[in-house]
Amino acid sequence: MSREGDLEGERFLVSAGPTAEPLDPVRVFTNRSSGKMGFRLAEAAQARGASVQLVSGPSAEADPEGVDVTRIQTAAEMKRAMLERLAEATVVIMAAAVADYRPEKVERSKIKKGEGPMVVTLVRNDDILAAIGKLRGAAQTVVGFAAESEELEANALGKLERKGLDLIVANDISRTDAGFGVDVNQVILYDARGGKKALPLMSKRDVADEILSAIQEYRAQDRR
Ligand code: PMT
Repeated sequence: MSREGDLEGERFLVSAGPTAEPLDPVRVFTNRSSGKMGFRLAEAAQARGASVQLVSGPSAEADPEGVDVTRIQTAAEMKRAMLERLAEATVVIMAAAVADYRPEKVERSKIKKGEGPMVVTLVRNDDILAAIGKLRGAAQTVVGFAAESEELEANALGKLERKGLDLIVANDISRTDAGFGVDVNQVILYDARGGKKALPLMSKRDVADEILSAIQEYRAQDRR
């Protein structure tokens, strides 16, 4: 089936990359996400005719041609950016590795090292995808990711259900040859109608195209 232009008229809102949670002017808590998965999704959707807004945490990936990119640092900034853009989107994909925790206290000056250990209290960030799941309209399609290191299917299906998603992309992030930071990924797609599609290891651009086609198919079922 030709994918050329099959997303004409769709408005995608995609998140990518890690978030960086400050401890002091020098130090941040972050993770190993490079942004590649989210940027490939934005590029693939744009190439297939969609209008695309991309909200990304710190990433070396270049702004894709024809994509409206907003760069942020913290989970709070990502939440604000996503919710501000939510209403106009027909499809939302949360590929970002949003930090679940941030330092409770952000020091205004650099913490001087002492002899003993440094103890830092971390507090929870809001779950952006859960907030989107509550705010989304019935005509919108909401896609999450599940970064798991065990019990992949059970954990992914739990998030699909708990966060009110239409599809979830599950990936085993304990692997060093796929997932974080590399150009390939191996994912299993689950949808809220019981659908499951396990993909072999492939380039993140090909993974992105498979995810977009699964979204198209899911939305087409709504229109039947
Ligand atoms: O960026 P790359 O280097 O290409 O790596 C790609 C990836 C491994 C980061 C990507 O494939 C991936 O798995 N992204 C999701 C990472 C993640 O945070 O998964 P999670 O299972 O912890 O979160 C579940 C879902 O909730 C995700 O859609 C996440 O965006 C979202 N979330 C999580 C925490 C939070 N506070 N708010 C959220 O919205």
